[in-house]
Amino acid sequence: MRIVYLNPAGQMGGAETSLVDLLASIREAKPAWRLMLVLGAGGPLVENVEQLGVCCTIVPMPDALAKLGDSGGGRLATALSLARAWLPLMSYTRQLRDAVRQLKPDLIHAAGFKMQIFGARVRPPGVPLIWHIHDYVRRRPLAGRLLRFHRHRCDLAVVNSQSVAADVRALFGGRPEVVPLYNVVDLVRFTPEGTRTDLDAASGLEPAPAGTFRVGLVATFARWKGHETFLRALALLPRQLPVRGYVIGGPIYQTAGSQYSREELERRASELGLQGRIGFTGHLTDVPSAMRALDCVVHASTEPEPFGMVIIEAMACRRAVVAANAGGAVEIFKDGFDALGHPPGDAAALAGQITRLASDAELRNRLARQGRESVQTLFHRRRLAAELVSIYQRDLLATP
Ligand code: GLC
Repeated sequence: MRIVYLNPAGQMGGAETSLVDLLASIREAKPAWRLMLVLGAGGPLVENVEQLGVCCTIVPMPDALAKLGDSGGGRLATALSLARAWLPLMSYTRQLRDAVRQLKPDLIHAAGFKMQIFGARVRPPGVPLIWHIHDYVRRRPLAGRLLRFHRHRCDLAVVNSQSVAADVRALFGGRPEVVPLYNVVDLVRFTPEGTRTDLDAASGLEPAPAGTFRVGLVATFARWKGHETFLRALALLPRQLPVRGYVIGGPIYQTAGSQYSREELERRASELGLQGRIGFTGHLTDVPSAMRALDCVVHASTEPEPFGMVIIEAMACRRAVVAANAGGAVEIFKDGFDALGHPPGDAAALAGQITRLASDAELRNRLARQGRESVQTLFHRRRLAAELVSIYQRDLLATP
């Protein structure tokens, strides 16, 4: 079996981490299968998959296409960007079609809205196409409309939670079939023991005094990831509590207008009077090491989170987690059992949960221990391989 995977970005966001886990688990379960990845841009993802023996081809997406998205500007701006992207779009379709054809796939598995649309347009006749959808489609008018328009060229949609499944089904209205497939975490990399990043040094801060409780938001700079909520929560914490906050991550995507800049967040932090109590580390590649340096990992997305890789990653590192309880995220933790929840965007509630954890070591350890156990049972690579292989081998996908 020859499978071609398509993905627009080469930077490591949640969808890319999920792709690496997926490739690793299939590689292990089916070593004879030939896995190939076609990317719209280079980046650390290339090395991560080449290490797995997956061969990688980059077909660079022109700027006008890479920047095209649903955020920033209204309908008119979107229409103008689409018009501007038209010629590059046509020539990119041709290039991608050639690249895919040369790889002679038996199956195409496309992630990311842009590659899903392109996948639908370039799939050779008779080659099944799977869309791997990681986000709510109805939240994104342009992407949603384009996916709906092309849905008859896709054989099956795999999604990352029941919650996203409901959203995609509502948009597609029955075809193609939508199958939830939970992400997994690399339990060998994300472990409780191991190196711990010096987060103070990474943020250019003086070392925090002994006994400081370290709490961090680990996320890309997408505007809905809740940086504002996190900063406001830190400002609401009782002054006598020895807490230092860390914003871990950076703006890694190219889509225009969809992300915070670091300057913007730093300005917001100083408006809130957080100087010296907050550090900005920028993007860190060794995420487990950064997580191990924290006492509490915060997930604060203000819109329903489709899945929330960071939640299972932090649990795997045996950290206490506070997560926003909405969307697919509520399917992966049990509030009060293996993590604590807070309503999305509610800075006061988030501050309350951080305070509870900072003041109660017993609670913190219990949640952390249970979190590691939960991911070991539910979110390991062998489970993903078994589910995905059976999806690939379904009659529906058999090449005619
Ligand atoms: C996207 C989603 C995120 C999910 C990831 C992997 O980035 O927004 O919730 O964890 O994909 O499925």
